[in-house]
Amino acid sequence: MLSAGTPEARNGGTATAEPVLRVDGLTAGYGKHVVLDGVALVVGEGELVALLGHNGAGKTTALRSIVGQVRPKAGSIHLDGAAVTGMSPAVTAKRGMSMVPQGQGVFPSMTVEENLRLAAAVATRRSSNPRPQDEVRAFVLDMFGILKRRHKDKAGSFSGGQRQMLAIGMALMTQPRLMLLDEPSTGLAPVLVDEVLAAVRKVNQELGTSVLLVEQDTKRVLAVSDRVYVIKLGVPVFDGTPAEMHQQDWSQLF
Ligand SMILES: Nc1ncnc2c1ncn2[C@@H]1O[C@H](COP(=O)(O)OP(=O)(O)OP(=O)(O)O)[C@@H](O)[C@H]1O
Ligand SMILES: [Mg+2]
Repeated sequence: MLSAGTPEARNGGTATAEPVLRVDGLTAGYGKHVVLDGVALVVGEGELVALLGHNGAGKTTALRSIVGQVRPKAGSIHLDGAAVTGMSPAVTAKRGMSMVPQGQGVFPSMTVEENLRLAAAVATRRSSNPRPQDEVRAFVLDMFGILKRRHKDKAGSFSGGQRQMLAIGMALMTQPRLMLLDEPSTGLAPVLVDEVLAAVRKVNQELGTSVLLVEQDTKRVLAVSDRVYVIKLGVPVFDGTPAEMHQQDWSQLF
């Protein structure tokens, strides 16, 4: 079993109070269209944090801004205490962010094995003590039994849920400090949504990977998250624990 190690070990030997991700006053959009206005969020070491909001609330734009696909108009983004605001996706990837995009994140004409190898090949140095790729690959295949059973099959023959598992597995091959998932449950039957979210939680707990999870299925997400943020039309409207969220009037948030 691949263990997460201590936070200090994962952090290169120095204990620090800095969260893995800190976003402050994030304002971003497309051209003159402002989509996010003053979004702040924190993902601590080993935390699974959810970002919720209605269709068009700006969740994907937030993730894109964090990984550098969208240049923020204002605000700051820090990874492990170092500013990455406005840096390119190549740089944020190198610093340890790995995003599983909304929709298709796998190569359908390639096998499971090939998809995982490709993800590993594009991974650059991600942690102070990277694990051997074979070890990570074995862990990913052990974690997702379906990938092990079908590792020679083309991803194009997979169901939506299976593709999502593979996309998560590919993100793990880069040994990320922070995994960002954009609605991994999109288009899945409820039973598969549970399976995918359980897999995300397992990765978080067994590997210690910090996770920022964007979702729309609030009830299911609350069951697996440590903390939750809600944005409404690009503006933060809630920040708290799942227990605190349960005490809110959700009709005011969505
Ligand atoms: N590339 C783009 N160019 C212009 N406007 C965009 C672009 N992408 C998104 N938008 C607009 O930004 C707003 C927020 O979109 P975004 O995709 O961030 O929302 P979301 O919360 O991820 O929604 P969903 O739950 O449907 O995925 C929407 O009004 C959308 O139309
Ligand atoms: Mg989206």
